[in-house]
Amino acid sequence: MQLLDGKSLSQTIKEELKTEVDAIRQAAGKIPHLAAVLVGDDPASQVYVRNKVRSCEEVGFRSSLIRRPATISQEELLEVVETLNDDPDVDGFIVQLPLPAHLDEDAINLAISPQKDVDGFTPVNIGRMTLGLEAYLPATPNGIMVLLERYGIETSGKEVVVLGRSNIVGTPMTILLSRKRQPGNATVTLCHSRTRDLAAHCRRADILIAAIGIPEMVTADMVKEGAVIIDVGINRVDDSSRKRGYRLAGDVDFESVKAKASAITPVPGGVGPMTIVSLMMNTLKASQAK
Ligand code: GUN
Repeated sequence: MQLLDGKSLSQTIKEELKTEVDAIRQAAGKIPHLAAVLVGDDPASQVYVRNKVRSCEEVGFRSSLIRRPATISQEELLEVVETLNDDPDVDGFIVQLPLPAHLDEDAINLAISPQKDVDGFTPVNIGRMTLGLEAYLPATPNGIMVLLERYGIETSGKEVVVLGRSNIVGTPMTILLSRKRQPGNATVTLCHSRTRDLAAHCRRADILIAAIGIPEMVTADMVKEGAVIIDVGINRVDDSSRKRGYRLAGDVDFESVKAKASAITPVPGGVGPMTIVSLMMNTLKASQAK
């Protein structure tokens, strides 16, 4: 079994990005600038955004963290987005999700300028990706594509099963994997909460991608011998034996599944760091597009 070490691969790619950023700084005297908007104090979101900002510093980007209270109104948040759209100093920005329930995530997403949408969530970028045009690709699915490519995992002609149809992971994942280029050319099945006999679909998968948000849902009996397992889940599971009172668990029961898999991502240290690297790649691209 090969451990798909996203943490170590992300370090390698960050080194590559740093070299590029150093060259850009010397040639043009400017550096890429990513801004992140964090609304409220959801503990997991705080960790994710902190990791994004820290990664920016590691590769020599500029980063700005814009924090707003959970009580912010829709209008006020739209103003923050408009300000960032218009700020010539900001190359790209993200609004960390999920937002508090009173805010309309779709409306906020629609307000983000596609040229600065380094998360790749806006309709223009999703449409361009779907048509195979140059686009900012969504960070988690693209991070998984980079992971598969760098580990030399063949996708062409393979049966891929994606669990979960979210706009930010499952759905774009199916588009990237089925496109006519490498990595891609896979036969993709998208499973969701209404899928009948989910386990039977999973057992057919050469590559199984779990992005369903249910801790350790994928068990060994659902996995084909030799399958490649990509675990997108980061779930907090109560555990009183831990100092923090919880442990992090993926959507895959790592301990039982690893015995059957030919390759598997750990949680943490698998997909998460690749998401961040993908965001940085988009930000570098945004800074060079200007
Ligand atoms: N919440 C979970 N994943 C993501 C992501 O990739 N981008 C943003 N903005 N929010 C998220």
